[in-house]
Amino acid sequence: IPVDIFDIVVFGGTGDLALRKLMPSLFLRDHDGQIPDGSRILGVSRSDLSSADYVARLRAGLEQHLDQDDLDDGTWQRFSARIAHVRLDATKAEGWDGLVQDLKDGEDRSRVFYLATSPDLFGPICRNLKTAGVVTPKARVVLEKPIGRDLESACRINDEVGTVFNEDQIFRIDHYLGKETVQNLMALRFANSLFEPLWTSASIDHIQITVAETIGVGGRSGYYDRSGALRDMVQNHLLQLLCLVAMEPPVRLDKDSVRDEKLKVLQALRPIADGDVGVKTVSGQYRSGAVDGQAVPGYQDELNAEADGDAPESNTETFVVIKAEVENWRWAGVPFYLRTGKRLPKRSSEIIIQFRPVPHSIFEQGAGEVVANRLVIRLQPDEGVTLNLMTKDPGPGGLRLRPAPLNLSFAETFKVRYPDAYERLLMDVVRGNPTLFMRRDEVEAAWSWVEPILEGWQRGSERPKAYTAGTWGPSAAIALIERDGRTWHDDAD
Ligand code: BG6
Repeated sequence: IPVDIFDIVVFGGTGDLALRKLMPSLFLRDHDGQIPDGSRILGVSRSDLSSADYVARLRAGLEQHLDQDDLDDGTWQRFSARIAHVRLDATKAEGWDGLVQDLKDGEDRSRVFYLATSPDLFGPICRNLKTAGVVTPKARVVLEKPIGRDLESACRINDEVGTVFNEDQIFRIDHYLGKETVQNLMALRFANSLFEPLWTSASIDHIQITVAETIGVGGRSGYYDRSGALRDMVQNHLLQLLCLVAMEPPVRLDKDSVRDEKLKVLQALRPIADGDVGVKTVSGQYRSGAVDGQAVPGYQDELNAEADGDAPESNTETFVVIKAEVENWRWAGVPFYLRTGKRLPKRSSEIIIQFRPVPHSIFEQGAGEVVANRLVIRLQPDEGVTLNLMTKDPGPGGLRLRPAPLNLSFAETFKVRYPDAYERLLMDVVRGNPTLFMRRDEVEAAWSWVEPILEGWQRGSERPKAYTAGTWGPSAAIALIERDGRTWHDDAD
């Protein structure tokens, strides 16, 4: 779909997200001819950088984060000519003249303000944008997650941003929604008639959603240590995945139909509070260990190293498991086991739909176990779908059963480059399409569910349980699912 000429202003222009994701994504869009001539890309930061210095910094970022084949000279000439650096302390009301000047003559264009900053700056920056007079009718603001650190701060930020921008102009990003495979969930569910009749508690025993990472917290501990896995991953990415799996079919694929259905799922989540917190959740923190054969330090060691000595003992969780329940007709009695963590044995995000066993086996004991069907939706890496079926073991002799996978690998089937989530989402903002962004009520409903868990952890004096880097988390995480007579999918690999 063609895009009209636009301007994008990135606050936090020298930050990790801008250099690692936003600018490389804009470059790739330019490479594919999606950025019309005359469009401008402005990076805002407090650093004393000339535009030439800034362009050099972006170039270094692109070299680090893109394939060399994608970094062609023609696109680079075009792209670098669009870039300028604006030195500005966006939390102060004065000093905005340079930006105002840079944006003049663009009042009728789409104008995107991307706030790649800490959430406590969202309100002040929006107020200053208004005072500076740059909020035009076609202006949009993008808010990076997390929106706040609890329900109260999320509501406050939403109020503050809402005094400057209408809800239709506010794009709360959750980059998981921009992943090809996450959107593919909608295709899988609603473009096939096969699954929907089975997509209920009558056929499904339970669902597992795992987002496992091998990376540690690295240089992000300033942010991460105040956040933790529940705020960083569950409140947004995992709950969004849960919503897409559990929601009713939306009437249409438009912004409100889809988001209304997701909201209903969040509202149907059974609260986990007080005594339930210790039973239905497990938190963990990695100790030193080995990932991919490489020795890696523990979380506290990383904090100590960054503090040049001893950092205070941290209670931040780098791993979470939650047994969630969606209390509605479709899902009553079907647990959703959510699991995410850093420094786990492999990078793997997947959704497991575990079907119920056959009601009665007609096979003799010696034929082998009749294993219940399982649909595995692999979000990353090795994107694809596998349906585990029971088959007859080939060969003469008696009838012996054997499980076998029906495997669809997207890479092998489609042989195309998967665009980064940010590439799609940035262009959706430019086009003004908020379907894949979180609405205010969704964010607040997600915080309402997460907050009692955080409070429960704080009240109970228990620390996150230790796990060795390179393992699947503390043993309590395995015990949680095994108490229900089930196992994590990787245990069954
Ligand atoms: C981010 C989190 O939102 O998602 C990070 O802040 C996490 O901690 C990242 O590593 C994971 O994203 P992806 O796309 O690599 O799965």
